[in-house]
Amino acid sequence: MDTGLNKTVPRGYKLTFLAILLFISWQCSTVSGFKWRTDLTYVYLKNDIAENITLHAHCKSADDDLGPKIISYGQNIEWWFIINFFETTLFWCNLWYLADSEGGVVSGSGDIFRVKQLKGCDDSHCYRAARKDGVHAYTFGPQQEDYILFGWMS
Ligand SMILES: *[C@@H]1O[C@H](CO)[C@@H](O)[C@H](O)[C@H]1NC(C)=O
Repeated sequence: MDTGLNKTVPRGYKLTFLAILLFISWQCSTVSGFKWRTDLTYVYLKNDIAENITLHAHCKSADDDLGPKIISYGQNIEWWFIINFFETTLFWCNLWYLADSEGGVVSGSGDIFRVKQLKGCDDSHCYRAARKDGVHAYTFGPQQEDYILFGWMS
């Protein structure tokens, strides 16, 4: 096949170009199971329970203990991390709030972030909200999602 490229571009350049293309496609390969990650993943946990309800949260991973946090209604806590090489990074939370002035405590615990949930995040930003019916994962992105990660014990 006679193309303009063959006439004008010296052979060495074409090979270099090919090598670069191969390198890029290798870099982009999703076939490899593991990859070294350097990008940060962000998790936001919002108190979306009800006006005047204060959420108490204690979240941890195997490596990090975020310590006890108090989240006012409508507020978030956020934290960030780099997913480990084996993609086993996992954060879980113990959450509780006072449901009424008589001291009824509602509590729940469960996983707030797992690597397999990343596809349900907006560009490594993972939004979580505690609501009356449980702790939700949701997205703002074009394919808006909202599902319950775990419920409250009663
Ligand atoms: C929240 O607290 C404020 C101040 O005490 C009160 O005025 C308001 O009625 C409360 N809202 C609800 C929904 O209980």
